Amino acid sequence: EKGNHRHYMQKEIFEQPLVVAQTLQSYLRSYEQQVALPDMDFSFADVPRITIVACGTSFYAGMVAKYWLEQFARVPVELDIASEFRYRQPVLEAGGLALFISQSGETADTLAALRHARAEGQRIAVVVNVPTSSMAREADLLLPTRAGPEIGVASTKAFTCQLAVLAALAAKVARDKGRLTEAEEREIVGHLSEAPAAMNAALAHDGDIEKMAPLIARARDVLYLGRGPDYPMAMEGALKLKEISYIHAEGYAAGEMKHGPIALIDEHVPVIVIAPSGPLFEKTVSNMQEVQARGGKVVLISDAEGLAAAADDRLLATIEMPKVHPLIVPLTYAIPVQLLAYHVAVAKGTDVDQPRNLAKSVTVE
Ligand code: F6R
Repeated sequence: EKGNHRHYMQKEIFEQPLVVAQTLQSYLRSYEQQVALPDMDFSFADVPRITIVACGTSFYAGMVAKYWLEQFARVPVELDIASEFRYRQPVLEAGGLALFISQSGETADTLAALRHARAEGQRIAVVVNVPTSSMAREADLLLPTRAGPEIGVASTKAFTCQLAVLAALAAKVARDKGRLTEAEEREIVGHLSEAPAAMNAALAHDGDIEKMAPLIARARDVLYLGRGPDYPMAMEGALKLKEISYIHAEGYAAGEMKHGPIALIDEHVPVIVIAPSGPLFEKTVSNMQEVQARGGKVVLISDAEGLAAAADDRLLATIEMPKVHPLIVPLTYAIPVQLLAYHVAVAKGTDVDQPRNLAKSVTVE
């Protein structure tokens, strides 16, 4: 079943262009260049606020979705991890939409949060990979990802498929709220359609990432930095690394470094900087230079333009990504952070598909 791959995780990483294309196919009408969601018995036009709830990697997909929903639809979005949402008496406006994101559809805290939101009069939308799951059954609006069964405990293809669905959802909410013209919707559809090819181009750097993995494998701590939608990608990179390689890793918003974490920096703590060229690039690079000035060893993930602009012989390594539209940056940059965690874990000899202490579906609270 693993085919030519050594691990399920590797197979699932490489499947992503295909399953993201498959998922997009159910949400985009390519002829009309429009976004299409399943039929629903309410309109997003009437939704005053969206509350997103999830755990782990699915939560990071939710973080990216918050940027998109606010940017395109100008709708207020609240975001929480399920185990916190349940116990903090959230204020939920009548008629609000509560959006739950889950690969398994069975995560106990997310499911309990869903039931709580329903009891509080929220409409329930669910982005889920297992169509027969509890969450799928309890949704008012079911938005399936078409990643196929995910076997590796570390979520990879389910995550990028979640991002694909969430981008389509953001465009649809924006259309229904009159915040997006037909032409702008066509543009979004066009950019999303480019994601599978961009992900393929990212996968082509697998060999470079494998070569640099030993540099990271000997670290005890690793930091990941990003800004804007690259911040959740930093969090996701750190989570992937810690769960499969057992190296301590944290993701930070690049601008937060100087408020504390920069004290951790020395030549033994590699810092992975996620910085595609674009409006946020210079700010993030200046945070990167603050790290370098303190002896920090940086791995920069960017496109050719960004790598040229930030060229510096103090860089430990670089990972080159294709130049892509900002909308599909999270889909594209998920690949190098997944591959880095994968190759570091392989270099360390840990059990990539079945990391210690973890279960694929967390059905305890
Ligand atoms: C990380 C990972 C977990 C899950 C989390 C939520 O690689 O797999 O953090 O994302 O347990 O699971 P689902 O999405 O099934 O609700």
